[in-house]
Amino acid sequence: MKKKLIVGNWKMNGSLAANQALLDGLTAGAATAACGVAVCVPAPYWSQVQALLASSAIFLGAQDVSQHASGAYTGELSPGMLKEFGVRYAIVGHSERRQYHGETDEVVAAKTQCALANGVTPIVCVGETLAEREAGKTEEVVKRQLAAVIHANGHCISEIVLAYEPVWAIGTGKTATPEQAQQVHALLRAQLRAASNHADLIPILYGGSMNAANAANLLSQVDIDGGLVGGASLKVADFLAIVAAAQ
Ligand code: PGA
Repeated sequence: MKKKLIVGNWKMNGSLAANQALLDGLTAGAATAACGVAVCVPAPYWSQVQALLASSAIFLGAQDVSQHASGAYTGELSPGMLKEFGVRYAIVGHSERRQYHGETDEVVAAKTQCALANGVTPIVCVGETLAEREAGKTEEVVKRQLAAVIHANGHCISEIVLAYEPVWAIGTGKTATPEQAQQVHALLRAQLRAASNHADLIPILYGGSMNAANAANLLSQVDIDGGLVGGASLKVADFLAIVAAAQ
Protein backbone atom coordinates (compact mmCIF):
# COMPACT_ATOMS: atom_id res chain seq x y z
CA MET A 1 0.00 0.00 0.00
CA LYS A 2 1.14 3.54 -0.80
CA LYS A 3 2.46 5.46 2.21
CA LYS A 4 -0.05 8.12 3.27
CA LEU A 5 0.83 11.77 3.76
CA ILE A 6 -0.61 13.97 6.51
CA VAL A 7 0.03 17.70 6.14
CA GLY A 8 -0.82 20.33 8.73
CA ASN A 9 -1.81 23.76 7.43
CA TRP A 10 -1.35 26.17 10.31
CA LYS A 11 -2.76 29.09 8.28
CA MET A 12 -2.12 32.46 10.01
CA ASN A 13 -1.65 30.95 13.44
CA GLY A 14 1.34 30.49 15.70
CA SER A 15 3.90 32.29 17.84
CA LEU A 16 7.45 31.41 18.77
CA ALA A 17 6.25 29.92 22.07
CA ALA A 18 3.20 28.12 20.65
CA ASN A 19 5.21 26.64 17.76
CA GLN A 20 7.81 25.29 20.16
CA ALA A 21 5.17 23.60 22.33
CA LEU A 22 3.29 22.16 19.34
CA LEU A 23 6.42 20.82 17.66
CA ASP A 24 7.83 19.38 20.90
CA GLY A 25 4.65 17.34 21.11
CA LEU A 26 4.59 16.38 17.43
CA THR A 27 8.23 15.37 17.16
CA ALA A 28 7.90 13.16 20.25
CA GLY A 29 4.59 11.65 19.15
CA ALA A 30 5.30 11.20 15.44
CA ALA A 31 8.84 9.83 15.83
CA THR A 32 7.82 6.40 14.60
CA ALA A 33 5.01 7.43 12.22
CA ALA A 34 4.59 5.06 9.29
CA CYS A 35 3.14 7.82 7.12
CA GLY A 36 4.73 11.00 5.78
CA VAL A 37 4.10 14.05 7.97
CA ALA A 38 4.59 17.74 7.15
CA VAL A 39 3.64 21.11 8.66
CA CYS A 40 3.02 24.19 6.50
CA VAL A 41 3.84 27.17 8.70
CA PRO A 42 3.83 30.96 8.27
CA ALA A 43 7.00 32.20 6.54
CA PRO A 44 8.46 34.15 9.50
CA TYR A 45 8.72 30.86 11.40
CA TRP A 46 10.51 28.80 8.73
CA SER A 47 13.87 29.27 10.42
CA GLN A 48 12.57 28.38 13.88
CA VAL A 49 10.64 25.36 12.64
CA GLN A 50 13.54 24.18 10.46
CA ALA A 51 15.70 24.05 13.59
CA LEU A 52 13.01 22.36 15.69
CA LEU A 53 12.47 19.68 13.02
CA ALA A 54 16.17 19.15 12.31
CA SER A 55 16.39 15.70 13.81
CA SER A 56 12.82 14.59 13.06
CA ALA A 57 11.21 12.98 10.03
CA ILE A 58 8.55 15.71 9.83
CA PHE A 59 8.90 17.88 6.72
CA LEU A 60 8.61 21.66 6.62
CA GLY A 61 6.15 23.29 4.23
CA ALA A 62 5.09 26.80 3.19
CA GLN A 63 1.53 28.01 2.59
CA ASP A 64 2.12 29.72 -0.74
CA VAL A 65 4.92 30.39 -3.23
CA SER A 66 5.45 32.98 -5.95
CA GLN A 67 5.03 32.23 -9.64
CA HIS A 68 8.27 34.19 -10.18
CA ALA A 69 11.81 33.09 -9.34
CA SER A 70 12.95 36.60 -8.22
CA GLY A 71 12.44 40.29 -8.90
CA ALA A 72 10.19 43.25 -8.16
CA TYR A 73 7.27 41.42 -6.55
CA THR A 74 6.80 43.07 -3.15
CA GLY A 75 5.63 40.65 -0.48
CA GLU A 76 6.13 37.51 -2.55
CA LEU A 77 8.25 34.51 -1.55
CA SER A 78 10.28 32.69 -4.17
CA PRO A 79 10.83 28.93 -4.25
CA GLY A 80 14.58 29.61 -3.92
CA MET A 81 13.90 31.30 -0.57
CA LEU A 82 11.85 28.32 0.55
CA LYS A 83 14.69 25.98 -0.37
CA GLU A 84 17.19 27.92 1.73
CA PHE A 85 15.14 27.09 4.81
CA GLY A 86 14.70 23.43 3.97
CA VAL A 87 11.08 23.89 2.89
CA ARG A 88 10.02 20.76 1.02
CA TYR A 89 6.35 21.50 0.23
CA ALA A 90 4.34 24.59 -0.69
CA ILE A 91 0.56 24.73 -0.65
CA VAL A 92 -0.58 26.30 -3.93
CA GLY A 93 -4.05 27.54 -4.82
CA HIS A 94 -5.64 27.10 -1.41
CA SER A 95 -9.25 28.30 -1.61
CA GLU A 96 -8.46 31.10 0.85
CA ARG A 97 -5.84 32.41 -1.64
CA ARG A 98 -8.21 31.96 -4.57
CA GLN A 99 -11.00 33.71 -2.69
CA TYR A 100 -9.21 36.52 -0.81
CA HIS A 101 -6.27 37.12 -3.13
CA GLY A 102 -7.92 36.63 -6.49
CA GLU A 103 -5.73 33.71 -7.55
CA THR A 104 -6.97 32.36 -10.86
CA ASP A 105 -6.51 28.86 -12.27
CA GLU A 106 -3.72 30.29 -14.45
CA VAL A 107 -1.87 31.83 -11.49
CA VAL A 108 -2.17 28.55 -9.59
CA ALA A 109 -0.80 26.68 -12.60
CA ALA A 110 2.13 29.13 -12.91
CA LYS A 111 2.93 28.83 -9.19
CA THR A 112 2.91 25.06 -9.53
CA GLN A 113 5.32 25.30 -12.45
CA CYS A 114 7.67 27.67 -10.63
CA ALA A 115 7.73 25.45 -7.53
CA LEU A 116 8.44 22.30 -9.57
CA ALA A 117 11.17 24.02 -11.60
CA ASN A 118 12.90 24.98 -8.37
CA GLY A 119 12.70 21.76 -6.42
CA VAL A 120 9.74 22.51 -4.15
CA THR A 121 6.83 20.06 -4.19
CA PRO A 122 3.54 21.93 -4.69
CA ILE A 123 0.45 20.76 -2.84
CA VAL A 124 -2.13 21.93 -5.37
CA CYS A 125 -5.60 22.56 -3.94
CA VAL A 126 -8.85 22.22 -5.86
CA GLY A 127 -12.42 22.26 -4.62
CA GLU A 128 -15.92 23.54 -5.21
CA THR A 129 -17.96 26.04 -3.20
CA LEU A 130 -21.30 25.12 -1.66
CA ALA A 131 -23.16 27.01 -4.42
CA GLU A 132 -21.22 25.11 -7.07
CA ARG A 133 -21.97 21.76 -5.40
CA GLU A 134 -25.64 22.60 -5.07
CA ALA A 135 -25.73 23.59 -8.74
CA GLY A 136 -24.33 20.17 -9.66
CA LYS A 137 -21.06 21.71 -10.82
CA THR A 138 -18.55 19.93 -8.57
CA GLU A 139 -17.07 17.80 -11.34
CA GLU A 140 -16.87 20.68 -13.81
CA VAL A 141 -15.14 22.97 -11.29
CA VAL A 142 -12.50 20.58 -9.95
CA LYS A 143 -11.72 19.31 -13.45
CA ARG A 144 -11.29 22.87 -14.74
CA GLN A 145 -8.98 23.74 -11.84
CA LEU A 146 -6.85 20.62 -12.35
CA ALA A 147 -6.85 20.94 -16.15
CA ALA A 148 -5.12 24.33 -15.93
CA VAL A 149 -2.35 22.81 -13.80
CA ILE A 150 -1.96 19.80 -16.10
CA HIS A 151 -1.89 22.04 -19.17
CA ALA A 152 0.94 24.18 -17.78
CA ASN A 153 3.00 21.33 -16.37
CA GLY A 154 2.83 18.48 -18.88
CA HIS A 155 4.46 15.28 -17.76
CA CYS A 156 5.89 17.01 -14.64
CA ILE A 157 2.37 16.67 -13.24
CA SER A 158 3.42 13.37 -11.68
CA GLU A 159 5.64 15.37 -9.27
CA ILE A 160 2.79 17.24 -7.58
CA VAL A 161 0.71 16.47 -4.53
CA LEU A 162 -2.97 17.17 -5.17
CA ALA A 163 -5.47 18.11 -2.48
CA TYR A 164 -9.25 18.01 -2.83
CA GLU A 165 -10.69 20.56 -0.44
CA PRO A 166 -14.40 21.25 -0.80
CA VAL A 167 -14.66 24.92 0.19
CA TRP A 168 -17.86 24.29 2.14
CA ALA A 169 -16.03 21.83 4.40
CA ILE A 170 -13.08 24.06 5.29
CA GLY A 171 -13.17 25.27 8.88
CA THR A 172 -16.90 24.63 9.07
CA GLY A 173 -16.98 21.31 10.89
CA LYS A 174 -18.91 19.93 7.87
CA THR A 175 -16.79 17.15 6.41
CA ALA A 176 -17.48 15.52 3.08
CA THR A 177 -18.62 11.97 3.71
CA PRO A 178 -16.00 9.38 2.81
CA GLU A 179 -18.17 8.45 -0.21
CA GLN A 180 -18.52 12.06 -1.38
CA ALA A 181 -14.77 12.60 -1.07
CA GLN A 182 -13.88 9.30 -2.75
CA GLN A 183 -16.19 10.11 -5.66
CA VAL A 184 -14.30 13.33 -6.41
CA HIS A 185 -10.89 11.74 -5.76
CA ALA A 186 -11.73 9.05 -8.32
CA LEU A 187 -12.60 11.72 -10.90
CA LEU A 188 -9.33 13.51 -10.23
CA ARG A 189 -7.39 10.25 -10.43
CA ALA A 190 -8.95 9.48 -13.81
CA GLN A 191 -8.03 12.95 -15.06
CA LEU A 192 -4.44 12.48 -13.86
CA ARG A 193 -4.27 9.04 -15.51
CA ALA A 194 -5.21 10.58 -18.83
CA ALA A 195 -2.27 12.99 -18.42
CA SER A 196 0.43 10.80 -16.90
CA ASN A 197 1.52 7.18 -16.78
CA HIS A 198 2.50 7.75 -13.16
CA ALA A 199 -0.85 9.08 -11.96
CA ASP A 200 -1.25 6.34 -9.39
CA LEU A 201 1.85 7.63 -7.61
CA ILE A 202 0.44 11.13 -7.16
CA PRO A 203 -0.85 11.54 -3.60
CA ILE A 204 -4.38 12.96 -3.54
CA LEU A 205 -5.08 14.40 -0.09
CA TYR A 206 -8.50 15.23 1.33
CA GLY A 207 -8.92 18.49 3.26
CA GLY A 208 -11.90 20.08 5.00
CA SER A 209 -12.65 19.57 8.70
CA MET A 210 -10.61 16.37 8.90
CA ASN A 211 -10.31 15.49 12.57
CA ALA A 212 -9.39 12.71 14.98
CA ALA A 213 -12.88 11.19 14.75
CA ASN A 214 -13.41 11.13 10.98
CA ALA A 215 -9.85 10.62 9.68
CA ALA A 216 -9.77 6.82 9.67
CA ASN A 217 -12.92 6.52 7.56
CA LEU A 218 -11.80 9.12 5.06
CA LEU A 219 -8.31 7.63 4.82
CA SER A 220 -9.68 4.13 4.21
CA GLN A 221 -11.04 5.20 0.81
CA VAL A 222 -9.12 3.81 -2.12
CA ASP A 223 -8.19 7.15 -3.71
CA ILE A 224 -7.62 9.15 -0.51
CA ASP A 225 -3.88 9.14 0.06
CA GLY A 226 -3.70 11.46 3.03
CA GLY A 227 -5.01 14.66 4.56
CA LEU A 228 -4.49 18.41 4.48
CA VAL A 229 -5.48 19.39 7.99
CA GLY A 230 -6.21 22.94 9.19
CA GLY A 231 -7.75 23.45 12.63
CA ALA A 232 -6.89 19.99 13.98
CA SER A 233 -3.21 20.44 13.08
CA LEU A 234 -2.85 23.07 15.82
CA LYS A 235 -3.55 20.58 18.61
CA VAL A 236 -0.94 17.94 19.38
CA ALA A 237 -3.35 15.17 20.39
CA ASP A 238 -5.70 15.74 17.45
CA PHE A 239 -2.97 15.90 14.83
CA LEU A 240 -1.23 12.82 16.23
CA ALA A 241 -4.53 10.93 16.20
CA ILE A 242 -4.90 11.72 12.48
CA VAL A 243 -1.30 10.61 11.88
CA ALA A 244 -2.08 7.39 13.74
CA ALA A 245 -5.20 6.86 11.62
CA ALA A 246 -3.02 7.07 8.50
CA GLN A 247 -0.82 4.08 9.31
P1 PGA B 1 -9.75 22.72 8.18
O1 PGA B 1 -8.85 23.38 7.04
O2 PGA B 1 -9.15 21.36 8.49
O3 PGA B 1 -9.65 23.67 9.35
O4 PGA B 1 -11.13 22.60 7.63
C1 PGA B 1 -8.30 22.62 6.00
C2 PGA B 1 -7.56 23.51 5.05
O5 PGA B 1 -8.01 24.64 4.80
O6 PGA B 1 -6.49 23.13 4.52
